[in-house]
Amino acid sequence: MRTRGKRARRESSAIFTAVSRRANFEEWERSHVRDDRPVAIHPFPATAAGRYPPYAERVFSPRGPSLRELAVQALSSVERGYDLLAPKFDHTPFRTPDRVLDAVTGALRPLGPFDAGLDVCCGTGAGARALRPLCRTRVAGVDFSAGMLAVARRGDSSPLDAWVRADVRAMPFRPVFDLAVSFGAFGHFLPDERPGLFREVRRCLRPGGLFAFPIGAPPPVTSPWYWAFRGFDAGMRVRNALRRPPFVMYYRTFPLGPVCADLRRAGFTVTSRPLEEFGRRGDGSPSVRLVLARAH
Ligand SMILES: C[S@@+](CC[C@H](N)C(=O)[O-])C[C@H]1O[C@@H](n2cnc3c(N)ncnc32)[C@H](O)[C@@H]1O
Repeated sequence: MRTRGKRARRESSAIFTAVSRRANFEEWERSHVRDDRPVAIHPFPATAAGRYPPYAERVFSPRGPSLRELAVQALSSVERGYDLLAPKFDHTPFRTPDRVLDAVTGALRPLGPFDAGLDVCCGTGAGARALRPLCRTRVAGVDFSAGMLAVARRGDSSPLDAWVRADVRAMPFRPVFDLAVSFGAFGHFLPDERPGLFREVRRCLRPGGLFAFPIGAPPPVTSPWYWAFRGFDAGMRVRNALRRPPFVMYYRTFPLGPVCADLRRAGFTVTSRPLEEFGRRGDGSPSVRLVLARAH
């Protein structure tokens, strides 16, 4: 027990040092997390009439963004778009639902406990809910949107949490994590970027560390979702051909087979298991799987 406590303390301070190369995480965070940009309560531009859109025009819920605000987001870069959306993000379906987070925690629990956990593309901090019950020393979230991180910091944070601003394609960590997770963010990476992203996650894990994320089965061609996702991706391609900076967000660029192949090439041993909470498709295959990639 005593040894474990000592080890936990050692690991915790290793992460402090690793992320900061300084002894003091807060000091490192202050110098690396650009909180100087204002994150206003109403970050979207007002309408021509000088008013913000009424709730009736809100898309997902009374506290969610309006259609116009979503359009402004989609015309920005990914980072700026999320800065704009941040105060309302938790009132959209883009925030990973607790049901998914809890199913992932349940599936990972028998494989733990873990010491340090990392949420890749943490946004407003949803993944911390999955990591906290599994990790003993530190839960870190990394994201490049200062606005999203500001909301995460204001949220239901624990003293073990650390919110780090960085592009996940080049993270400021040494190999100190035992578990990495990611939720709802892979659509922001082009297929060509996937191998580099996976190598970067691999680099931040200790040997034997685990990278886990849920992945939904693609809807069948007879489903309206199939056509909705196809239509969205086609619209996004047109938008990105016409306007800079691009907003990279595609629904159909993360298929299980090629994803597992890229993980293997990045130095992982890959398995997956069904998340039965989400049921099965007509052909008996699971609707949602948890991918388990073990660093070797
Ligand atoms: C749809 S949100 C998901 C947030 C959170 N994981 C959740 O499930 O609620 C996608 C997040 O990925 C972040 N993101 C996208 N590309 C990134 C990159 N290259 N580096 C860091 N963060 C990135 C965005 O800023 C955004 O917060």
